[in-house]
Amino acid sequence: MAAPDKVVILDFGSQYTQLIARRVREAGVYSEIHPCTVTAKDVAAMAPSAVILSGGPSSVTDADAPPFDPAVFDLNLPTLCICYGMQLLAHSQPGGSVAASTDREYGRAELSVLADVPLFAGLDAKAGHTVWMSHGDKVIAPPDGFVVAGRTKNVEIAALANVERRMYALQFHPEVAHTDDGERILHNFLFTIAGLTPGWTMASFVETELAALKKQVGDDEVVCALSGGVDSTVVAVMLHKAIGKKLHCIFVDNGLLRLGEGEEVAAYLREHFDLNLYYIKASKLFLDRLAGVTDPEKKRKIIGTTFIEVFEAEAAKLPKAKYLAQGTLYPDVIESESFRGPSAVIKSHHNVGGLPEHMKLQLIEPLRELFKDEVRKVAAEIGLPDFIIWRHPFPGPGLAIRIIGEVTEERLEILRRTDKIVQGELAASGWYRKVWQGFAVLLPLKTVGVMGDGRTYENVAAIRVVDSLDAMTADWTRLPSELLASMSNRIINEVKGVNRVVFDVSSKPPSTIEWE
Ligand code: XMP
Repeated sequence: MAAPDKVVILDFGSQYTQLIARRVREAGVYSEIHPCTVTAKDVAAMAPSAVILSGGPSSVTDADAPPFDPAVFDLNLPTLCICYGMQLLAHSQPGGSVAASTDREYGRAELSVLADVPLFAGLDAKAGHTVWMSHGDKVIAPPDGFVVAGRTKNVEIAALANVERRMYALQFHPEVAHTDDGERILHNFLFTIAGLTPGWTMASFVETELAALKKQVGDDEVVCALSGGVDSTVVAVMLHKAIGKKLHCIFVDNGLLRLGEGEEVAAYLREHFDLNLYYIKASKLFLDRLAGVTDPEKKRKIIGTTFIEVFEAEAAKLPKAKYLAQGTLYPDVIESESFRGPSAVIKSHHNVGGLPEHMKLQLIEPLRELFKDEVRKVAAEIGLPDFIIWRHPFPGPGLAIRIIGEVTEERLEILRRTDKIVQGELAASGWYRKVWQGFAVLLPLKTVGVMGDGRTYENVAAIRVVDSLDAMTADWTRLPSELLASMSNRIINEVKGVNRVVFDVSSKPPSTIEWE
């Protein structure tokens, strides 16, 4: 069987790079993002069927422009250059020229198609098409052999085409939803120009991955840290399907989980799969170490190192284990491989990497090519139930980073009950599946209230509900006021210790999703 088609996307740092990868995969073609620093030889070794150059924030004329090997353009591969990619093409090919500009153009523009090229097939040549622009520099002369295929009011050269070499460039972003016909343009590139065959589906992904896992592990054994979330559950179930009892799952209950969480997933897995599952109750250890700690990063560090310690002690009871399976997702991979290097640590996520070297376990990351929504599709493909598939992301440090100030058993109990109402109301109203995440936060703040005839002096709880695609950016969800009213009434009436509820109306950036 011939290898399936693969598109290699070179990342120059655009906020839309991941979106390009998604669009290509949505079209049924497998795609991978690589940093722009790879050489033409590296790209050739990846044996792609086509290449896409992303946009990026730099200027090709800057001294510190990201490094790039222009021999990529000589690989004789169908190539689509978007935004910065287009400027790079014009800058590095004979005849082409780019003018630096200090004015940036953002947003909507009207594209007029000027040439009948395959990339624009099916677009009406006369009509203006709304496209999404985000650039500073402009191409002012096409490279030799390229025709100008489109223009907008501000940009005379908004599209370039070399039909014979199957090379195209666009100043606008076909991958964003605001660009009319963006999908048609990408499909024209993938199917008409590059002649690719759509065949990448979740079913084919699972089938290939299971066979690869079986082969990789052979007679060895694997440990997996199960957290109760969809990612690690999918990893565990896939590995179980591939290698059965050679998989050992360790669930560390740190006492910072939500009401019922953890036990629920463990019970489901026990009932439906004959898994080796070790449920380690370590709440006391975690809470003892957190006593008196209020600094968010200190809390995260304590929970991270305690987790590793407990996990390591359990794993040591499995001397045959050679591999550690993790639910690392694509956004984590890209972030650490970007040409800009890992982005600044805003919060330490203890469950990405982090195991001590001396454990000598090799990593298995079956989901490292996938986005969250794709993991959910895999979860459905391997038969997991909705309550696991649609579970909201939950941070490794758990409720400890949703209790501002000291974490105590009493405050955990208040937060669990409050959170249970938020979850319940989201589910009952149908909002749970529409939002990225929804939860409660307990503030280190008491305010005055009145209940019956008496004065109360109790805690404030906050409700945080956000929409997001990948947690990199997020906006607060415009929940109906009746739903907020119902959450607030229930919390204040049913949770002893809370007499005031506020709703968080901050977006990310500049705020983050979690409060700590
Ligand atoms: P922030 O608060 O940084 O969160 O906007 C982004 C997403 O990551 C989750 N999060 C974590 N997930 N370990 C995790 O596995 C962690 O330490 C951690 N901290 C935050 C958060 O819930 C949101 O979905």
